[in-house]
Amino acid sequence: MKTLNVAIIGAAGWIGSVHAECYTRLNVLVPDAKVVLHTAVDVVEENAKKIAQQLNFLKYTTDYHDVINDPEVDIVDICCNNNFHKEIAIQAANAGKHVFCEKPLAMTESDAWEMVETAQRNHVINGCNLVYRKYPGVAFIKNLIEEGKLGKLYYIKILIEQDSHADPLDMHAWLFNRAKAGGGTIVTNGTHPIDLCRYLMGDYAEVCAVSETFIKERPKFDPSQIGMAGSRTFIEKRPDIIAGETEKVDVDDATAALIRFKEGGFGVLVSTWAKQGTRHNVGFEVVGSNGSAIFNTERLNEVQLYIHDHDDRSRIGYTTIFLGNEHPYGELTNMKSGSGIGGKDVFTIAMKDFVESVIAGKPMSPSFYDGYVAVRYLKRIQQSADEHRWVSAE
Ligand SMILES: NC(=O)c1ccc[n+]([C@@H]2O[C@H](COP(=O)([O-])OP(=O)(O)OC[C@H]3O[C@@H](n4cnc5c(N)ncnc54)[C@H](O)[C@@H]3O)[C@@H](O)[C@H]2O)c1
Repeated sequence: MKTLNVAIIGAAGWIGSVHAECYTRLNVLVPDAKVVLHTAVDVVEENAKKIAQQLNFLKYTTDYHDVINDPEVDIVDICCNNNFHKEIAIQAANAGKHVFCEKPLAMTESDAWEMVETAQRNHVINGCNLVYRKYPGVAFIKNLIEEGKLGKLYYIKILIEQDSHADPLDMHAWLFNRAKAGGGTIVTNGTHPIDLCRYLMGDYAEVCAVSETFIKERPKFDPSQIGMAGSRTFIEKRPDIIAGETEKVDVDDATAALIRFKEGGFGVLVSTWAKQGTRHNVGFEVVGSNGSAIFNTERLNEVQLYIHDHDDRSRIGYTTIFLGNEHPYGELTNMKSGSGIGGKDVFTIAMKDFVESVIAGKPMSPSFYDGYVAVRYLKRIQQSADEHRWVSAE
C-alpha cells in the first residue's frame, strides 16, 4: 500500500475544505493507497488551525513554501484564489510534487501554458479540477456520443446559472476584481461549461460573446474577512459595511457566447451568477442527427435521452433514465443502485481519479493541458465580448 501525503493550499476556504473532506473518503474507495491529510495551508492562521483540527491534518501553516520544501509531501492540491495558482503549481512541480489545481488553471494563457510545460518537464502527475466531467450523467452522455448513438453532433445549448451574487449587498471580494480573478462569472462559473463544450463537441474554431455587469458597485471588502466570497449573512451581522463605502465591480455578472466547433456544429453558452430563482444549475442539451440528451445538475441523478431507432412517430420524445450502478462511476457513488448521488460525491470521484493516476503513474484527465485549453477559450470569449467581434479560438 502506498502512502500519499496531501497538502491543501487554501484549505480553510470553501472549496479547500470540500477537497479535504473528500480525500478522507479515499481510504475506503482506493484500497491500494493510504491518503493522509498532511498539511493545511491558509494565509489566515486561525482558519488553517481550525480546519487542521477539524479534519485531522498532521500540520498547518500560513506559508505554502513550507510544503514545497517538505520532502514528506507527495501531492500539492491548490484551492486558493486564482491569482496564486501559477506560482504555487510551478514551484510544486519543480520540487517534484504531483499537483492537482482548481479551475481556472491560471489567469492568462501564457501562465497556463507555463504550468503545462513545467509539469511535463518534471514528469509529475497534473490535474485540473474541471469537475463537471466527473458527473455520472455527463460521463454517460460522453460515452453515448463516442459510441455514435447520437449520430453526428449538430449543436449544444449549455448554461451555468446561479443566484450566488444576485444580491447587490453581497460584499465586494476578490471575485469581483478582474485583476485578481481574471473575470467574473465567465471565469468562476463559465470555465466549466467552456470545458464541457470541448469535452462533448470537440475543439473550438471561433467564438462571439457579449458580457454584462448588472451590479456595478458592491459594499467594500473587509480584509479581515479574506476568504469570504460575499455573504448576505455576513452583511446582516455587519450593517456598518452597508452604510460604508462601496467598491467598483469590473467583472461580468453574465456572459453569453456563440461557439463554432472545428468538426462542425455550434454551441450556445450562458454563464451567470446573478439569476434570482436558481440556486445553482449546470445544464445542457446536446443534439445530434440520431438523437439528443439533456442533463441538469439540479436533477443530477437523471439523464433525458432520445435515440431515434424506430419509425413509430407516437414514440418520439425523451425518456428519463435514472442513473445507477450500471452507469459511469455508479458503484462509487450509489449506496445501492438507484439510491442517488450528491455534489460532494462528484468531487470525491475527481480526487479518486487523481490519486489513482498518481499511484499508477498515468496521466490524469482532465490534466493541466485541458485546464490550459479552457483558459485559452475563456480568454477568447472575453476578448470577443471586449472587442464586439468574432475571435478565432486557435
Ligand atoms: N471546481 C469547482 O467547481 C470550484 C468551485 C468553487 C471554487 N473553485 C475554485 O477554488 C478556488 C478557491 O475558491 P473558493 O470559493 O474556495 O474561495 P475562498 O475565498 O472561499 O477560499 C480561498 C482560500 O484560500 C486562502 N488563500 C488565499 N491566498 C492564499 C495563499 N497564497 N496561500 C494559502 N492560502 C491562501 C484564503 O484565505 C481562503 O481561505 C478558486 O480558484 C475557485 O475558482 C472551484
